[in-house]
Amino acid sequence: MKQKSYYILAIESSCDDTAAAILRNDDVLSNIIATQDIHNAYGGVVPELASRAHQQNIIPVVDQALKKAGVSKNELSAIAYTRGPGLLGSLLVGTSFAKSLCMGLNIPLIEVNHMKAHLMTHFINDEYPTPKFPFIGVTVSGGHTQIVIVKDYFDFKLIGTTLDDAIGEAFDKCGKILGLGYPAGPIVDKNAQKGNPHAFKFTVPKVSGLDFSFSGFKTNVINFVHKRKQKDGTFIQKNLNDLCASIQFTLVEIIFRKINKAVEIHEIKNIVLGGGVSANSSLRSKLKKTESENGWKVFLPPFQFTTDNAAMIGIVGYLKYLKKDFSSIKASASARLKF
Ligand code: KG4
Ligand code: ZN
Repeated sequence: MKQKSYYILAIESSCDDTAAAILRNDDVLSNIIATQDIHNAYGGVVPELASRAHQQNIIPVVDQALKKAGVSKNELSAIAYTRGPGLLGSLLVGTSFAKSLCMGLNIPLIEVNHMKAHLMTHFINDEYPTPKFPFIGVTVSGGHTQIVIVKDYFDFKLIGTTLDDAIGEAFDKCGKILGLGYPAGPIVDKNAQKGNPHAFKFTVPKVSGLDFSFSGFKTNVINFVHKRKQKDGTFIQKNLNDLCASIQFTLVEIIFRKINKAVEIHEIKNIVLGGGVSANSSLRSKLKKTESENGWKVFLPPFQFTTDNAAMIGIVGYLKYLKKDFSSIKASASARLKF
């Protein structure tokens, strides 16, 4: 029997990307992202500017997603939106837009947790293998660093989180000290490929259990670079690739040690990565190497689904649609929405 087609419009506006996607069931028909370059000049996301840019972008981005998918708004079955976590002003734009359009079209509204969506990306119908439950989910992004046990599409248990900065933030802030643009993560990654990861030694913080801390590491890098620059003004220029490689080596080591610990404690060898930092080449290759050595099964998202996008919101929207798990029109955006 032919499967019924449901069309989901997904909207993501939690940080500095305005994104919309159309899914037909678990297939992505379009996935549009408007990246806000305005923040580059400030070396980080400026919340007020992000909200304004979302307001300008949201209608054209949704329009483009519908056009590219060849779907009219009257064919939509539901609208899924990011309720949180994220920047409140940014979330409010996507939330209000999704609510208004749902009311106008008289279709269900579905709220989605951004961090869960980063992991659920793996259930999009593409050529990549789909993880089996239970798995250890690792979300590494600009705003979060978390380890969760996922037993089912809707059963998530947080077992580790950062006590201060997120790993993506550590990449970006260290990159900023080195004079790289924003976001610095991908640039650090690119430079690191030409450098020696053991040229400089930075501290791996000692944090008990499965939690993380990156602020001590960041201070370590800032102080080190500052001292060396005082002796030699061209220190960064001369050592840029080695600095990037050493910073990246330490950050990947921090995350890798905790994943190992989680595998050991919970005896689960399925590891699923999600979030912007899962694009990092060193993290990807280290996990793939361990997969063959230790009998792990590692699931890395395709590159287009590593950083923020609406297709990941859409897949959760589709799974919730099947369960008729709809959101109240009264639900408000939640900057600190929990797992
Ligand atoms: O998931 P995401 O797009 O946004 C949040 O939800 O925060 O993640 C963005 C983060 C930024 O900090 C960016 O520098 C980092 O992901 N990132 C990377 C790489 N690509 C993106 N970090 C290291 N290596 C990369 N290749
Ligand atoms: Zn994200």
